[in-house]
Amino acid sequence: MKRIFSGIQPTGGVTLGNYLGAIRNWAALQQEDYECIYCMVDLHAVTMWQDPATLADSTREVGAALIASGIDPKKSIVFNQSQVAAHSQLAWVFNCVARVGWMNRMTQFKDKAGKNRENASLGLYAYPALMAADILIYKATHVPVGEDQRQHLELTRDIAQKFNNDFKVDFFPITEPLIFGAATRVMSLRNGENKMSKSDPSDMSRINLTDTADEIAQKIRKAKTDPEPLPDAGVDPEEGRRERPEAFNLLNIYAALEGSDAADVQTAWAGKSFSEFKSALADLMVAKLEPISTEMRRLMDNKDEIDRILADGSERARALADPIMQDINDIVGFLR
Ligand code: TRP
Repeated sequence: MKRIFSGIQPTGGVTLGNYLGAIRNWAALQQEDYECIYCMVDLHAVTMWQDPATLADSTREVGAALIASGIDPKKSIVFNQSQVAAHSQLAWVFNCVARVGWMNRMTQFKDKAGKNRENASLGLYAYPALMAADILIYKATHVPVGEDQRQHLELTRDIAQKFNNDFKVDFFPITEPLIFGAATRVMSLRNGENKMSKSDPSDMSRINLTDTADEIAQKIRKAKTDPEPLPDAGVDPEEGRRERPEAFNLLNIYAALEGSDAADVQTAWAGKSFSEFKSALADLMVAKLEPISTEMRRLMDNKDEIDRILADGSERARALADPIMQDINDIVGFLR
């Protein structure tokens, strides 16, 4: 039996990048012999300032996106992190297992803290220890994430190993990352060098799962390209991505949406004009995203329904996490 855990930050809306890069893969992992736990990591979100009302709405929106994208909340567990106290309890233990030197090597902290590191929250610094706790409080065996989370998963393995060594137990599993490939990495529509991001100031840089058909068509029409027609069939995609990042990003998105091989899409469209390609891409995107955004909007209009689903998920998550936390307390020597 494999146990899958992954997390997504409930900040801002959900983009096509989140969908193709993560959520769709999470949905595909729901199969026999896999137990999937998907978490909106609101405790991680507040490592940077979040407006409380917006945080609550974003949590519902991300929950709605997961469910609308095919994650079945009866089969899988979908919940928000703050509702399962064991995440925070284990994170404290891990704060005492992990070494300051390990944290100092985390590149995401350096990126997020920026120049003014002295003013970053202590939570942002400890972020990776909480992430390790998210995974290990369920003794998850597999963690599907993007490439940017690889370092955090290596740290998770180091923390598990050090805990096992320090307390002379064979308690935590050594978790395997399931890294999503570059093929599903969706870049900004305005600059092919940057990841498509919900924090980009320009809304034209991204497709939101809540965008209407007209908005999608307009964003694709205005997406940055170059003056050349579409690349020839023979061009190596890796080289292409380096030299014509915008062109190859759109090709990639097309292939990912259609579920076909990027090379086949490249062959089919070789030498054609972008205006023709963009209109096909917009049609394909609307066809694929429309059912998701419709269901998402329905759920977001029914707050009670989504809140009930998340409350049920939290309860089932607690039922898994609490006994494991009891064992950890015993191992550490915390008197019951
Ligand atoms: N740090 C992850 C991200 O930014 C989110 C996350 C938090 C996560 N806890 C996790 C991912 C546990 C996988 C497992 O994408």
